[in-house]
Amino acid sequence: MTRRIAIAVDGPGSSGKGTVARGVARALGYQYVDTGAMYRAVALLARRRGIGWDDGHAIGRLATELRFRFQWDGDILRVEVDGEDLTRAIRADDVGQGASRISRYPEVRAALLGLQRELGAGGGVVMDGRDIGTVVLPNAELKIFLDASLDERARRRHEELLRRGEMVHLDEVRAALDARDRQDRERATAPLVAAADAIRIDTTELTIPRAIDVVLGLARDRTAG
Ligand code: DC
Repeated sequence: MTRRIAIAVDGPGSSGKGTVARGVARALGYQYVDTGAMYRAVALLARRRGIGWDDGHAIGRLATELRFRFQWDGDILRVEVDGEDLTRAIRADDVGQGASRISRYPEVRAALLGLQRELGAGGGVVMDGRDIGTVVLPNAELKIFLDASLDERARRRHEELLRRGEMVHLDEVRAALDARDRQDRERATAPLVAAADAIRIDTTELTIPRAIDVVLGLARDRTAG
């Protein structure tokens, strides 16, 4: 019998985390948890309720009140908050920027941490984010830190935005991604950093299917025996 382990996947924006984490979860029959979606949903709902993205206290309070539900719909992981489907709305670029702004606040992180740990408890899970290997699941059996050059990440993000119908310039996308990563890396609470025991995978010149294979190989080593 193979053990069902917890796999943490961290890394900067558009490093391929989500696609890799999802692919690994599907291949192993594990649950996939997208923690970025939670921060995005909090940022979106704060804006809708007229709460400024710099009001850490009010956003922390809001984050404790929200009821999240994640559900697969074919290939799409639907994110429902308080019964409303926010799957598409949270993917907008400005919502990603907002998520990075509000995730600086310890109150906001604390509000989401319990739910994230609950989802990771018991194993059989692939969770992606910025602080999964360092803070959320420090005992995860396998920790991956995915990275890619800024140019490559900007190219991927730009493509994704064009597919969504957001007409933006590549240079703007690169600058925004760079600013967001800097903010995520430099914040005091749970910054974006590889855990000491994380395995780094650079996807600049690696296809996503190949990256998934590499992670699956590592997962197999950890679950055998
Ligand atoms: O992975 P993403 O682009 O959907 O995440 C959006 C923002 O949310 C990211 O810029 C920082 C924040 N975030 C975080 O602080 N911690 C996580 N575990 C996941 C996301």
